[in-house]
Amino acid sequence: MRRLQKPKLLFAIVLLISVSLYLALFFNIKTTYRERMHALELLLKERLFDNATTAPGQNAASFVASTVSTSTSHSAMNTTKAYDPIQAALATERAAAELLRQPVVNFHDYEYLRNPVGACEVSETEVLFVVPTAPRNFERRKRVRAGILGKYVSAPSNNATLLFFAGAPNCTESTPKIQSHLDDEFRTYGDLVQESFVDVYTNIRLKAVSMLRWAVTYCKHAKYVIRTDDDVMVNVSRIVSALKRTGTVYTDFILGNRKDGWTPVRNTSEDYLKYAVSEEEYPNSTYPRFALGGLLGYPLSTVTLLYQAALRTKPLWLDDVYITGICASRLKVPVLNDTEFVFQH
Ligand SMILES: *[C@@H]1O[C@H](CO)[C@@H](O)[C@H](O)[C@H]1NC(C)=O
Ligand SMILES: *[C@@H]1O[C@H](CO)[C@@H](O)[C@H](O)[C@H]1NC(C)=O
Ligand SMILES: *[C@@H]1O[C@H](CO)[C@@H](O)[C@H](O)[C@H]1NC(C)=O
Ligand SMILES: *[C@@H]1O[C@H](CO)[C@@H](O)[C@H](O)[C@H]1NC(C)=O
Ligand SMILES: *[C@@H]1O[C@H](CO)[C@@H](O)[C@H](O)[C@H]1NC(C)=O
Ligand SMILES: *[C@@H]1O[C@H](CO)[C@@H](O)[C@H](O)[C@H]1NC(C)=O
Ligand SMILES: *[C@@H]1O[C@H](CO)[C@@H](O)[C@H](O)[C@H]1NC(C)=O
Ligand SMILES: *[C@@H]1O[C@H](CO)[C@@H](O)[C@H](O)[C@H]1NC(C)=O
Repeated sequence: MRRLQKPKLLFAIVLLISVSLYLALFFNIKTTYRERMHALELLLKERLFDNATTAPGQNAASFVASTVSTSTSHSAMNTTKAYDPIQAALATERAAAELLRQPVVNFHDYEYLRNPVGACEVSETEVLFVVPTAPRNFERRKRVRAGILGKYVSAPSNNATLLFFAGAPNCTESTPKIQSHLDDEFRTYGDLVQESFVDVYTNIRLKAVSMLRWAVTYCKHAKYVIRTDDDVMVNVSRIVSALKRTGTVYTDFILGNRKDGWTPVRNTSEDYLKYAVSEEEYPNSTYPRFALGGLLGYPLSTVTLLYQAALRTKPLWLDDVYITGICASRLKVPVLNDTEFVFQH
């Protein structure tokens, strides 16, 4: 008799543990879900997203709005599935796992010419601002340091860091002068990362990847990364709070000024040559939805995924289409259009 009871008891214990684990997991997910839905409603109330266009699935506001309106009925999130926060997180997780199994096709192993390795430790960075800049843009960098952004990051309580990213000056007569000027800046401000690729317009993708790479390598404890150009004026505290509030809803996302259905410029006449993209480089007739590179925000976890995706995705030199469009769509990362991220050069 006793011999029979032992396995039964064991079985009952295992069953009990499994059931409790399952219930704990279920309620945990449910609570997270409810919290996120609540945060989503708050976001809407605060009018963070643009509601202008209403085609379903075409803009952030419409899918956010329809997600909220269906959240109480627990059903029919069919058309908005990709942007339901939980569904989006699962979809990204799956897509990322799939993508990471693929081989690296674009090694990005340029050496660092200048690297302020400790920049994120000094300020216990929570938000890292990355600004692509041409080596010769001394004046613009000066204005950024002295402007709203420079003032914001210099307040210790904001836990923010600002870094400029450049490549190597193209070899022209003035190169030694430009490089020694950069070195002076590096010594004075310590806010410049320089990789060894040649800094020319057609290499902007490499610069964009260099910013992702630096953030994931040297700024691991930051929560968010904001990318802005050296000639863009922004209300920093507003974009930071828009980003943080979106972060209470979504795990991975890109916040920016989104462009849907843009087509590649095929015209190679003089006027367009600068932007032209050949069919060989990009065969499809439209780009995936993407966010303009002039002002973007994303969590560090998304930056990590985008960096890994960029190593594994056929390149296109247009950096914003490539990173926030092509790489993001492979990862199924939501690209959210936000009114705060409208900017002017
Ligand atoms: C966007 O839609 C939400 C809910 O549908 C509404 O409360 C809010 O006022 C709208 N925002 C704007 C800017 O129209
Ligand atoms: C999605 O849900 C809506 C509303 O519940 C329903 O009217 C529509 O037919 C559904 N669409 C698909 C493709 O299932
Ligand atoms: C900066 O970090 C400190 C300590 O973690 C925190 O108390 C403070 O709220 C942070 N500041 C901002 C603007 O988030
Ligand atoms: C560097 O600049 C010169 C003109 O100043 C140009 O002819 C050359 O193509 C540039 N190098 C690269 C790699 O683009
Ligand atoms: C940024 O926006 C906030 C809130 O709307 C406002 O109080 C502040 O004055 C603005 N800052 C600048 C520099 O425009
Ligand atoms: C290309 O652009 C030029 C204007 O810069 C225009 O005259 C020409 O017709 C365009 N070519 C095509 C194929 O659209
Ligand atoms: C190009 O179009 C094909 C077929 O519609 C699609 O599978 C592929 O993902 C598209 N590529 C990009 C980069 O959007
Ligand atoms: C994004 O928002 C801006 C301004 O809020 C709006 O003009 C634009 O049409 C929106 N883009 C999309 C793709 O909905």
